[in-house]
This record gives sequence, structure tokens and C-alpha cells, in this order.
Amino acid sequence: MTTYFSYPAPELQKELRRIANAIVVPGKGILAADESTGTMGKRLSNIGLENTEDNRRKYRQLLFTADKSLGNNISGVILFHETLYQKADDGTPFIELIKRLGIIPGIKVDKGVVPLMGSEGESTTQGLDDLSQRCAQYKKDGCDFAKWRCVLKIGKNTPSYLGMLENANVLARYASICQMNGLVPIVEPEVLMDGSHDLERAQKVTETVLSFVYKALNDHHVFLEGTLLKPNMVLAGQECPTKYTPMQAAEATTLALSRTVPAAVPGICFLSGGQTEEEATIHLDCINKASNARKPWALTFSYGRALQASALKAWSGTNVKAGQDELLKRAAANGAAAVGKYTAGSCSGSAGQTDLFVKNHQY
Ligand code: 13P
Repeated sequence: MTTYFSYPAPELQKELRRIANAIVVPGKGILAADESTGTMGKRLSNIGLENTEDNRRKYRQLLFTADKSLGNNISGVILFHETLYQKADDGTPFIELIKRLGIIPGIKVDKGVVPLMGSEGESTTQGLDDLSQRCAQYKKDGCDFAKWRCVLKIGKNTPSYLGMLENANVLARYASICQMNGLVPIVEPEVLMDGSHDLERAQKVTETVLSFVYKALNDHHVFLEGTLLKPNMVLAGQECPTKYTPMQAAEATTLALSRTVPAAVPGICFLSGGQTEEEATIHLDCINKASNARKPWALTFSYGRALQASALKAWSGTNVKAGQDELLKRAAANGAAAVGKYTAGSCSGSAGQTDLFVKNHQY
């Protein structure tokens, strides 16, 4: 065994640090608008629209033509491949609109989850084969960061050793390939909310999963200062009979993270994972208010469902202004929560308390 390796060149370190730090400036977070074509179909069918390329384009146009103030609370947007190359009605490329808002474009680069043979319904995530070429092209085309999602399930025998080892390793390979191409990798090991487990089990599983992830990232020489973590919050299972307060969940989350995420990581951007819009905002706020653990990183959001549910509903295919207003409101609420300054109940949306949980969610 040899311990030889070299750190990335100073110029690359500087570039990766610059991007990562810009994404997690205080009061800002990420809009995860990278729903795959299939997932976008479900969102559109909820509001009675067909899953056509033009309907997907029209919806994303709503997001990227929102008022400039969107940039006050959104620092980055994650796109799906198709969206990166789409244009607004007037011919302006979406990427141009995003940059005009002062928002950094990012791209989902994984190709979805596939089953692990012999496991109890566990998975890994595919997409490594041509990843380096794709990353190089995305960087050329204006993206500065990427996302790759791995999924872990809590069950009697899961997550298994294999599940944790494999997903940590694939995330580390992805992260190193991104960094070689100048993209900041968002590392997303999502422990699902599915199940009846209690808060303590969710905490311990999250700690174990994250410890595998950081071991693998270090083994693969990933430059931590140029990464971001996108974890689940520590929450009891959707079917758990015990109910916990938002502050209990927040403290379990900060404790789990403080035990496993190195201080070199600049920021943690939570996924919403099926929480309602208001729950996701309140939990983030409590996480920032919690004082039970050391928190050396920025703690912010990278929400998909919990940033867009009201916007989609208000838009419903025609009302662009109403959709944009909902988006701006929820982004501002989450921006406040990212610095622990949200007042619960102060932001009501047309889908505020709608259950966004989807069993075994695919993105
Ligand atoms: P949700 O916030 O809807 O969980 O999605 C975020 C995401 O990007 C999942 O990969």
C-alpha cells in the first residue's frame, strides 16, 4: 500500500473553492429543477398537462424568467440535460437567463438507480461510463457544478454493508471525475423517509452512511473544499407512530452531521425528500437555530418538490405570474431559514401543506 497522491493543481483548487463558496453564501440555496422527463411527467399530470417537450420548456421558462429578486435567495439551479439546451419564447437560451439572474447553472449527471443483485430492494446509481466527456462538455456549455443522487433505504436489514460501500464508492468516483473537469460535485446520498423507523434509527443510519461516504471521498483524493453535500435531514420514517417536534429532528440532524462531515466541506444543502413546503422550511430554520452541536459549514437548501409545488399549482399551465410569485415567496422563506430567521407560518403557498411524499421516490 502506498499513500502517494498529489492534490489538484492550485488553479483548479481555486476554481472549485470559488464555485462551492458562491453557492452557499448566507441566505441562498439551490433550486433543484432537474426532474427527469418521467418525473416531470408526473408533476405535469398533477395539474392536468401533457408531458410534452414544450410543456416542460414552458414550465422551466416560468422559473428562469422570474423577477431578478429570485437571485437574492437562489444561488444555483440544477438542470436536466434537455433543459440546459432549451430556449425561451424569444430565443434566449435558458442558460443565459439563469446567468442574468446571477444564478450558477448546474447539471444532473447521474443516469438513475438500478437494483443491486441479492439485496433487499437496494440500489446503486449508474452513469459513470462516459461521465468525463459529459462533464467536459457541460463545463464548456456553462455549468459549474453537478449532482449525482444515490438512494439508501431503512429496513430491518438495510442499508446493508454492500449498499453503503457501493453507493459511497460510486459517489466518490463521480466526485473525482467532476473535479477533474472543473465541476463542483454535489454529493447526494439520500436516506429515504420511507418506513416506520424512529428518529434515533434515522440518525444512526445517516451517520453510518455519511461515514462511508467521507471515507470513500478521501480514498479517492476528492478535494473536499470543492464539494457540497446534499443529504437527507434526519427525520423519523413516514409511518413512524411517534411524532417529533421540528427542533428534535433538527438536533438529530446537526448531531449526525457534526459527527461525520469534515469541517473542510463548505456547505450542506438539504434535499426536501417529500416534506411539505412549510415543513422543509421550518426544519431548515430549526437546523440553523439548533445549538446542540458544532456547525462549521453553511446549512442551506437544495429543494425540488418543496420549492416548486405551489409554483406548479398556481401556474397550472396558464398563470405564469402567479406561479412566479409562489416561487419567489418560497425561495425567500427558505433563504430566511438558511440563516435561522424564518417565522413558522409566515409563508403560505397554494400547496403549503400538501403532502409531497412519494413512496420509493425516483428523481
Ligand atoms: P426533493 O427536494 O424533491 O427531495 O429533490 C431534491 C433532489 O434534487 C433530489 O435529487
